[in-house]
Amino acid sequence: MQILVTGAHGKVGAATIHELIAAGHEVTGCDVVAPVYEGGDFGAHYVQADLTDAGDAFAVVRGADVVIHCAALPEPTRNVGSTVFRNNVMATFNVAEAAVRMGVDRVVNVSSETVTGMAFAERPFHAAAAPIDESVPARPQDPYALAKVFGEQLMDAMVARSDVTAVSIRPSWVQWEGNYERSLKPWVSDPFSAPPSESFWSYIDIYDLAHGLRLAAEARTAGHEALYVVSADNGTGRPLRELIAHHFGEAVAVGELARADAGGISYAKAERLIGYKPAHTWRDYLNEDGLLLDAPRERLARGETGVQRGRAALG
Ligand SMILES: NC(=O)c1ccc[n+]([C@@H]2O[C@H](COP(=O)([O-])OP(=O)(O)OC[C@H]3O[C@@H](n4cnc5c(N)ncnc54)[C@H](O)[C@@H]3O)[C@@H](O)[C@H]2O)c1
Repeated sequence: MQILVTGAHGKVGAATIHELIAAGHEVTGCDVVAPVYEGGDFGAHYVQADLTDAGDAFAVVRGADVVIHCAALPEPTRNVGSTVFRNNVMATFNVAEAAVRMGVDRVVNVSSETVTGMAFAERPFHAAAAPIDESVPARPQDPYALAKVFGEQLMDAMVARSDVTAVSIRPSWVQWEGNYERSLKPWVSDPFSAPPSESFWSYIDIYDLAHGLRLAAEARTAGHEALYVVSADNGTGRPLRELIAHHFGEAVAVGELARADAGGISYAKAERLIGYKPAHTWRDYLNEDGLLLDAPRERLARGETGVQRGRAALG
């Protein structure tokens, strides 16, 4: 298939480029990052495009069978709110509109676990039960989560007015060789003293996410479906019931879990609809103290992680 990956220079986009090339797809990446002009064939075609510009979006979407839309400002605290909201909503609007007018078959929209609103809430709240699934309502307060919810609504409107089908993938907190230690060390080393996690200690290994995005691109689901994609275990190595009892007491009911150390978000719908099954865990990267193991450290130093290889494929 001819697949366009937006946000191709970002970590999720790059890991996805790597996954798609390995699976034999014809891949184009786009991002706001300047291209390299002197290169040869790096494995994927790259085009610089700012998706908030409708002309850029139409130009890059043209010819794609599937668009995997990763481009976004990935959280709300490093840019002013209006920039996060404008960039993320307009980029998704333009991708959806271009997909309809240019005859794309399918859009895989990278949404976020933050649609529930808990992660960046000014007035904090938490889910009443674990594991969290797609039935938990979206109650966003911040510009990033609001833009993700509107992005999913843009997918609803796109499939309502055309034959394009769509899947919104809601990843948890994305981890790769470059940030596993920084992100998860506090959870792994002392999850009972570290502040509680509103996602109930869920995370997603980037290579499982890239695989899930490919499965979503290749699947034939109708209409628009929103799916959580998470790792199977939680990011602490401890039983989820113990963590929740310690931090939330009776305020959070714990339902049936696939394993004692399950993450607090369920991927059952993704497994059912697109065959997603996570294959990686933080234990492939970190020791029991939360420190990076030698193999991932060396892979990173050599530039041989899937993220780095995906970026290198762009030139
Ligand atoms: N990182 C996480 O923990 C996480 C969790 C859930 C969802 N997500 C989502 O996953 C996607 C990828 O995030 P990431 O972690 O790889 O972030 P990232 O910042 O590494 O990559 C995002 C890329 O999008 C590009 N981009 C932003 N605005 C653009 C525009 N207007 N036009 C073209 N390109 C644009 C950026 O230049 C960047 O290269 C985003 O949609 C993000 O919201 C991330």
